Amino acid sequence: MQRREFLYASLAASCSLAHPSSSLFAAPSAAASRIEILPEEPLGTISPDICGHFTENLGGVIYDGIWVGENSKVPNVSGIRKSLIDEMRKIKASVVRYPGGCFADSYDWRDGVGPADKRPRRTNFWNGGELASAPASHKYDPNQFGTNEFVHFCKLIGAQPYLAANVRSLPAEAFYQWIEYCNSPAGSTSLADLRSAAGYPEPFNVRFWGVGNESWGCGGNFTPQEYAVEFRKFATWVPQYGHQLSFVASGPNVDDWSWTRGFLEEILRKGKGQLRSIYGIALHHYAWNLSRGRTQDWDQGKGDAVKFEPVDWYELLREGERMESLIQGHWHAMQEFDPDHSIKLVVDEWGPWYRPGSELTPGDQLEQLPTLRDAVFSGMTLDIFNRHPEKVAMANCAQLINCLNSLYLAHEDKFCVTPVGHVLGMHADHQGGQGIRAEFSSPSISYDRDGKRASFWGLKGSASLHAKDIILTVVNPSVSDPRETEIIIRNTRVKSAAATTLTHTDIHAHNTFDQKEVVTPQTKSVEVSTATLTHTFPPASVTKLALKLE
Ligand code: AHR
Repeated sequence: MQRREFLYASLAASCSLAHPSSSLFAAPSAAASRIEILPEEPLGTISPDICGHFTENLGGVIYDGIWVGENSKVPNVSGIRKSLIDEMRKIKASVVRYPGGCFADSYDWRDGVGPADKRPRRTNFWNGGELASAPASHKYDPNQFGTNEFVHFCKLIGAQPYLAANVRSLPAEAFYQWIEYCNSPAGSTSLADLRSAAGYPEPFNVRFWGVGNESWGCGGNFTPQEYAVEFRKFATWVPQYGHQLSFVASGPNVDDWSWTRGFLEEILRKGKGQLRSIYGIALHHYAWNLSRGRTQDWDQGKGDAVKFEPVDWYELLREGERMESLIQGHWHAMQEFDPDHSIKLVVDEWGPWYRPGSELTPGDQLEQLPTLRDAVFSGMTLDIFNRHPEKVAMANCAQLINCLNSLYLAHEDKFCVTPVGHVLGMHADHQGGQGIRAEFSSPSISYDRDGKRASFWGLKGSASLHAKDIILTVVNPSVSDPRETEIIIRNTRVKSAAATTLTHTDIHAHNTFDQKEVVTPQTKSVEVSTATLTHTFPPASVTKLALKLE
């Protein structure tokens, strides 16, 4: 089944999309699904950095995506694509990671500062995967976008920079000097003078620093013990310049519990005080294997971004749902060594990863075309983070533009927001709120998985409290069934509500440069009169309910 027009047409006669103003109405209700929100059961403050971003010098992310250059015909602010700045301001972008990814462990930050015309060209880490037709800037880093330009980009969008240091191929000294370049006061050091000469006299005050990336693999092929020794060296006696620095240790690949344990065990061999040098442990998880158990081969296991069956839709969500048990599992492992949990999890790469072929700009390495499936996946993932606010301090969707789970696609003067970008925008309202418990009950979905019945949960989401407002985000993963749902807020009544819904009748729906608004959120305000509400969540949807309490 690829389309749901018939089902949807009959649904539309009675549900929110056809009659939005009646989508949230008074009880009584015979709804089969139920959400109970418990404002008196706080989970912790939802870090604004959970809606974070990731920009690697890979394919079309930096050159063409973010950086078009000051002399470009493409509208720009100091060389940075203006449409991207405008969109990121709207979604309250909180933090952006750069320059990688695997690229980070081959990058010398010194190449990307100083006069632009004197900066060297270098072979990009990702050079080997580039097609012959790809632009030179993708293969040979022209270093026109470096630390100054990245920090300026962050400033323009109102986000904090998160820089990833090179542990594999540079000494700790280069790391300290990068911090000195960024954070030493105007006039204090030669590197501060270099920064001033570029037009940035005031320190950047970069707080977040990643110490390597995927140090178990492209970041050096270390054992967790070897990496812990490197981490201690990099994170010890670092000049602070009056500002707190938060170091993120390179963490496990997916469910490699032995990395988390081995790393912390070795760190502690120099005493418990060492834990204070670690702000977070990074966790990476990509949903890539859609083979339904047939293979573990990285290339063979991947599916297509746009051409898929409902079974592939559910398979992707199942793979993505592992995020919750990964967070719980690594948190549990961390507890053995850090019982007070002073160290948090930083999920600084997440998203689906498909095989090549769906690029809007042919030749953009790792670019894929996000569909409604990826929007639902992203809503589900952000809800998982929101349900664990005491554990997850930051999360960065991989990646921001022209790569993997992109929020935006761009080429030359063309630009569009993907369904994923819209979901990140919908979730922005959770930022800084008090995560509160919400219990979901809904009939499971049953579907055919290679001749056997498989099931998937019927409705899930997350809730946060903001003074007299509750934000509730909900995913309905069913490709065919709406969920009429009773929503109860314990001990509280709702004064008014607005529902923002992202969905489409075609589960493959996506936005392109020519058709930018195929999948866009629709917001409708809703009158309510009692504390019991009923809302119908359309199939294949992400919904945000903004509830004003009495
Ligand atoms: O996001 C693409 C790559 O995936 C990153 O460079 C690396 O960290 C991960 O393996």
